[in-house]
Amino acid sequence: MKVRASAPGKAILFGEHAVVYGKPAIAVAVDKRAIVTIQEGHDDNINIKIPELDIYGVINPETGLLTEKGLLSLQNTDSELSPVPYEAGILEYIQKALFNSAISTNDKLNSTWTHGIDLDVDLEIPIGAGLGSSAAITVATLAAAARYHEKQFSPEKLAKMAHQVELDVQGSASPLDTTLSTHGGFIYFTHQNGGMMIKPTLEMPLVVGYTAEPGNTGLLIKKVRKLCSHHPDIINTILNTIEDITNQARDAIINGDEEKLGELMNINQGLLDALGVNTLELSNLIYHARQAGAIGSKITGAGGGGSIIAYCPHKTQEVLEKLNTVENAFKVNISSEGVKW
Ligand code: PMV
Repeated sequence: MKVRASAPGKAILFGEHAVVYGKPAIAVAVDKRAIVTIQEGHDDNINIKIPELDIYGVINPETGLLTEKGLLSLQNTDSELSPVPYEAGILEYIQKALFNSAISTNDKLNSTWTHGIDLDVDLEIPIGAGLGSSAAITVATLAAAARYHEKQFSPEKLAKMAHQVELDVQGSASPLDTTLSTHGGFIYFTHQNGGMMIKPTLEMPLVVGYTAEPGNTGLLIKKVRKLCSHHPDIINTILNTIEDITNQARDAIINGDEEKLGELMNINQGLLDALGVNTLELSNLIYHARQAGAIGSKITGAGGGGSIIAYCPHKTQEVLEKLNTVENAFKVNISSEGVKW
């Protein structure tokens, strides 16, 4: 038996970090996906391969724990333990998704996986780039595991389970990434309504520029929380202003107001800088994008590394070429398709 499921990554246009404090956010699913294949294993273990990251993980199916061998990289499978690469953290999402009790054949962990499986992840999204790679991998893993066990879940239930996995691994996370990876599209997200689809009347030519340095979402959330505890009034005012920006941006997107949208992105960027999540490299990309004709450019996701997003009507090629001279860049299209399983 061989099953496959895939889920898209995402880009946040407005409201990152503020969304952790109950504020709204606007984000899109992008046409870069995580594709997970599960098939009967070649041995009794759960063998995970992510060739794009050179990651190889082995989970003991009885304990549900990664074995020591699971921390080796693909190149070092026969040698001594290598230092755990940053990217190996992604294995924890897969582990938690596979041993989620709702996916289990019954509630007893030991009998979840009665035989070994080979799980392969094909990743089109750079990791740690603020493009929702962990949510896409989690949603696709849960969907593939559900299919493997011939279980059916509603997309809503799947999104909820995926959010729980992110909470278990990261400690805190908004449901934004997992909602987009499940449902796709362009959403205005609030904690009250979950994701509300927006129909843009604008063309949305977007370019992502990403730095070599991955951002660590958990640490950045903690950093903002610490700043908030030191300066509660100031930081709460910033978070409220980001909320206003996000709400005005939703109207600009619906009404097709390109210029306003670009301006609001740039103001949101200034406030993300004030929250302490900007870096020299991200700033460099942001200003190069503006110089090359982007009317709005800002960090997307947690910051501290990772990516920027540039909104560049009529200038996509120029911005793409410029950013590729500074770091790496690619165009993204909005994906209306969420999880495929
Ligand atoms: O960088 P990402 O894709 O993990 O996005 C993080 C966005 C935050 O608002 C900082 C956290 C969250 O869970 O929404």
